[in-house]
Amino acid sequence: MTPIQFALPYFGPEEAAAAAAAVQSGWVVGGPRLRELETAFADHCGVSHGVGVSSWTTGAFLVLKTLGIGPGDEVLVPSLTFIATVNAIVHVGATPVFVDVHPGTYNIDPADIPEKITSRTRAILPVDQLGLPCDIDEISRIASANDLLLIADAACSFGSAFRGVAVGSQATITIFSLHARKIITTGEGGMIVTNDGDFAERLRRQRHQGMSLSDYQRHGQLPTMFETYPEVGYNFRITDVQAAIGVAQLARLPEMLRLRREIAQHYLSRLDGHPDLIMPLVPDHVTPNWQSFQIRLREGARLTRNQLMERLHERGVPTRRGVMASHMEPPYRSHCAILPVTELLARQCLQLPMHPRLTADQIDFIADELTDALK
Ligand SMILES: Cc1ncc(COP(=O)(O)O)c(C=O)c1O
Repeated sequence: MTPIQFALPYFGPEEAAAAAAAVQSGWVVGGPRLRELETAFADHCGVSHGVGVSSWTTGAFLVLKTLGIGPGDEVLVPSLTFIATVNAIVHVGATPVFVDVHPGTYNIDPADIPEKITSRTRAILPVDQLGLPCDIDEISRIASANDLLLIADAACSFGSAFRGVAVGSQATITIFSLHARKIITTGEGGMIVTNDGDFAERLRRQRHQGMSLSDYQRHGQLPTMFETYPEVGYNFRITDVQAAIGVAQLARLPEMLRLRREIAQHYLSRLDGHPDLIMPLVPDHVTPNWQSFQIRLREGARLTRNQLMERLHERGVPTRRGVMASHMEPPYRSHCAILPVTELLARQCLQLPMHPRLTADQIDFIADELTDALK
């Protein structure tokens, strides 16, 4: 059996050819492939605009900054997330206020949101953790009732659906990651989607030093147009080489989702019902993309989570700890947040290998080793 990889991008000759074609065209940034990727992403999400950026993190920073969120403002966010979600809030000078999560879905618990709202709260930044859509209906209701902005961290959930509708249209602004561990990847990258055309145009200018014209407009059709710089902007651009890879990846999204679903079913068929393990919970109204496969050790299991990870590593099964608790990391300890569910999950969860090239034999091997280690 070939060595098991924990995660692996699903690349083939299609992506290699697309990247080569972009290079050979000589137009490697701000060109037609970027526009194609933005349009394709927006279409998939059922919204009008996509804005490609260099990462989820720079995209989230740009969104928060452009919305005018900054010092003195509070943003509600789960602590149980990759720390980038929280860092983006701090980068604009605002204060993250941590909300606990639901023990089954690992997503922000709407029941814990109201008591965290103060007169300084400006926005809610919920996360679709591990690709599983959060309870966006209830969160939207709370946001509207309290006049708060809703910005969705869908870094992991491209291709997932909520009540049968693709993730991306439920919040006013949704941000995806195109990092190597995500469903569709361009190595690094991010995509912001929204129905607000003026906002999308402003984001496009801001990702490009505040320039009034895109490269496409300046170099593509109207070479005599001169740009201006009405605002101070940034360089958060994604290249056309990346965009070309992204377009090729998008064409294979249904295949990737099918393979991930089959792998998840295989894991579940082998591990569901194990007395020491809690399998991922998928509420009826959501369709996950299975970006990750996270399991939880029950209280009283023979091994601790860390011991289990070490045993599996010795046997050739790479794992990762479950989603982190950001408030327990040094920059955020001073917030003294009390989040019992988050802390429990951060201690008890681990992630098993998950990527489209995982074979049935490898999954059986992982399940056998896991079961054996827990005997
Ligand atoms: C939930 C979540 N938010 C944000 C990010 C950051 O994405 P990027 O690496 O594209 O900045 C990640 C990446 O792993 C993530 O998992």
